[in-house]
Amino acid sequence: MTQTGDALREMIARELTGARRRTTLLTDSVDEADLVRQHSPLMSPLVWDLAHIANQEELWLLREVGGREPMRPEIDPLYDAFEHPRSERPTLPLLPPAQARAYGREVRGRVLDLLERTRFGDLEHGGLEHGGTRLLGDGFAFGMIAQHEVQHDETMLITHQIRAGGPVLTAGEPGPAPADVLRLPSEVLVPGGPFTMGTSTEPWALDNERPAHAVDVAPFFIDTAPVTCGAYAEFSADGGYDDPRWWTPDGWEHRQRAGLSAPLYWSRDGGQWVRRVFGQTEPVRPEEPVLHVCWYEADAYARWAGRRLPTEAEWEKAARFDPATGLSRRYPWGNADPEAAHANLGQQFLRPAPAGSYPAGAAPCGARQLIGDVWEWTSSDFGPYPGFSAWPYREYSEVFFGPEYKVLRGGSFAVSPVACRGTFRNWDYPVRRQIFSGFRTARSAVPESA
Ligand SMILES: [Fe+2]
Repeated sequence: MTQTGDALREMIARELTGARRRTTLLTDSVDEADLVRQHSPLMSPLVWDLAHIANQEELWLLREVGGREPMRPEIDPLYDAFEHPRSERPTLPLLPPAQARAYGREVRGRVLDLLERTRFGDLEHGGLEHGGTRLLGDGFAFGMIAQHEVQHDETMLITHQIRAGGPVLTAGEPGPAPADVLRLPSEVLVPGGPFTMGTSTEPWALDNERPAHAVDVAPFFIDTAPVTCGAYAEFSADGGYDDPRWWTPDGWEHRQRAGLSAPLYWSRDGGQWVRRVFGQTEPVRPEEPVLHVCWYEADAYARWAGRRLPTEAEWEKAARFDPATGLSRRYPWGNADPEAAHANLGQQFLRPAPAGSYPAGAAPCGARQLIGDVWEWTSSDFGPYPGFSAWPYREYSEVFFGPEYKVLRGGSFAVSPVACRGTFRNWDYPVRRQIFSGFRTARSAVPESA
């Protein structure tokens, strides 16, 4: 996957430009008042995301890679995510929308100039060892910044979903492909034995995905597709929210305190469930993967169903392990970059595809939609792989390692392909459900007592 300088330069420009197109759409589609307003204490005002994207791009590409002086050093602290929690951000003297846009354009123009002059070709001849060029190896710093921007595009789409008021975004037509879920087995077997988890070769993989290492996984069954709204509604109808047997002690306490009774954005309308989606109310579609559930809800559903959440290693083995070669793939379907037939990515349809869609994206085990559609909660805490080393900065992953965060895998419909792969790891608190989160369940193939 190491590329020549020109091909790499083209790919970087394409990814940066694609990310910016989405950022622009997400921020041009609302008025100034909506840009500066805080729509939830969980989220930044959109205008913060806008200038923060530019500030990170300036910091890593113009300053670290290009050796330039800061353009506006006085604004750095405002856009440092670790200095100010989201709830505080609206009180800061943020750049107003016109200035934030101008700053972003100025940084991007200089970055594209820098890209033109960067001689990636040199790296083919031992470049990684040259002073300071580890950031440039395979264009990593540019890749990191492209991923950072599309991750904020997902964050901004979450803000759009929270925002009150009518619809401002338009979904692509036609919607994602219909599914043949009725003909699919409900679960598939993943064989036991070791597989390679994580990566040491994926050029733009982030530090928490590294290094590749062998993990032994006992045989298990995993759902062919994510749990649907229809199945989840049965859990609710069966009193699942009112029965502490299905909940962990922490989960039950949270369910009581937060008054959980259905996924976020669901409500009853007469005899049916409806949900609010980007400013519109519609009947819940039973065939779609359930969205906006927290880890506690996912875990309780799995117990109710007589199953459990997969571990992170199980999820990755289901997604990547190819028994024919014994190797781990970059994606469930193979090593090729995602195309439209593989997965629902990139905010194109603004919703998950019906469970069982995307046969061309199936993993060797037969599971579908492991990439795209909904982030999938796993049972695992977020931790380092053996041999982990923080890079290029501790705050990317290392400061989040610990039992307070659960790992999510696979990426949602809101994720761009550049920030989505079989090894990609996301993490969040088990109470969070404003994110585009769903899940699938698993069970051990060998009874635990055997
Ligand atoms: Fe950020």
